[in-house]
Amino acid sequence: MQGSLMKPVLAAAALALAASVPAFSSRADEATLGSAAASAGRYFGGALDPGAFDERPYRELAATQLTCVTPENAMKWGLVEPLRGEFDWKGADALVAFAKANGQKIRGHTLVWHSQLPLWLINGSFRPDELKDLMVAHIMEEAGRYKGAIYSWDVVNEPFTDDGQWRRSIWYDAMGPDYVAIALKAARAADPAAKLYLNDYNVETSGPKMRALYDLVASLKRAGAPVDGVGLQSHFVSGAAPKDIQSVMEEFAGLGVAVAVTELDLRIRLPADDKALATQAADYASVVRACRATPRCVGVTTWGVTDDRSWIPSFFSGYGAALPFDEAYRPKPAVAAITQAWIGPP
Ligand code: G3I
Repeated sequence: MQGSLMKPVLAAAALALAASVPAFSSRADEATLGSAAASAGRYFGGALDPGAFDERPYRELAATQLTCVTPENAMKWGLVEPLRGEFDWKGADALVAFAKANGQKIRGHTLVWHSQLPLWLINGSFRPDELKDLMVAHIMEEAGRYKGAIYSWDVVNEPFTDDGQWRRSIWYDAMGPDYVAIALKAARAADPAAKLYLNDYNVETSGPKMRALYDLVASLKRAGAPVDGVGLQSHFVSGAAPKDIQSVMEEFAGLGVAVAVTELDLRIRLPADDKALATQAADYASVVRACRATPRCVGVTTWGVTDDRSWIPSFFSGYGAALPFDEAYRPKPAVAAITQAWIGPP
């Protein structure tokens, strides 16, 4: 009896402590987002900016809370090969070294995308066969460089538009839908151990885009293409996280692939008052519970860790506060809610 009374008291004390000091100084035996997820056999990840590794609070928070890391930008084509044949692996290498030093998995992001491409590629007026060769060479170069170090690659990012049509891109325009299978095969050849994902947003609820991705994965599986997982990016407005995300995860899993929440954030119309933060915490918990309840869901990644380094304010005017830790690296209510969703009763 005494023991069961003591636990809430200790938990409350730990929460009060966590609220008053930065979370990275918490004792090793306290739950972190990563250790809570591990207790459910999953990882908890975050997108990181290697440019911030020289800031101690950022580095320590990322090192202690996460068991998986994703480069928010550092592995995108425009950053690793800004000029043709001139590679800059600084950020990507730093991310890989960071993960190795901290025993974290790495989600590689992303090999083939319509965005953040170098200008030489976009403006190069390449023929379709040249674009195919360039795409395959890029995959071999990048996935080959990090062979053995990457847990999973977002091989193809955002292949569809919101109405479920193929997105026009230099890749689609050159090769049609075949570009996806070509990219997957190249990635498998470059790094046979990496899990290969297709990753998209607005596919977390049933609708035309989710259906298009489902049909694509089904046809790739039928054709024997190497696809291992589906990434549900999960950029949501706080209070509007889809209610059917678990059944969507289960549908994809029914195709025999893994699923992962790859870019979760819940943006709030500012200012973020206590009520808004409580709503956000509930949404974070609901997404984590959906993953926990889906055997093939391998983990949850947030798109950033702290509110001072989130893409949201510069892309959605008037919105922000989307991540579990605030600008001063203090845990928001979302942190306790996520932890509870991993370790509490299912
Ligand atoms: O690197 C330049 C820098 O030299 C320049 O001074 C600065 C001035 O604006 O811009 C810097 O580039 C920015 C880049 O992030 C790196 O910080 C770009 O302007 C900016 O557009 C770019 O935004 C990224 C966005 O992808 C590009 O589409 C976001 O940080 C990143 O969070 C976001 O991530 C995507 C995922 O990859 C795919 N899913 C959606 C998600 C959110 O859009």
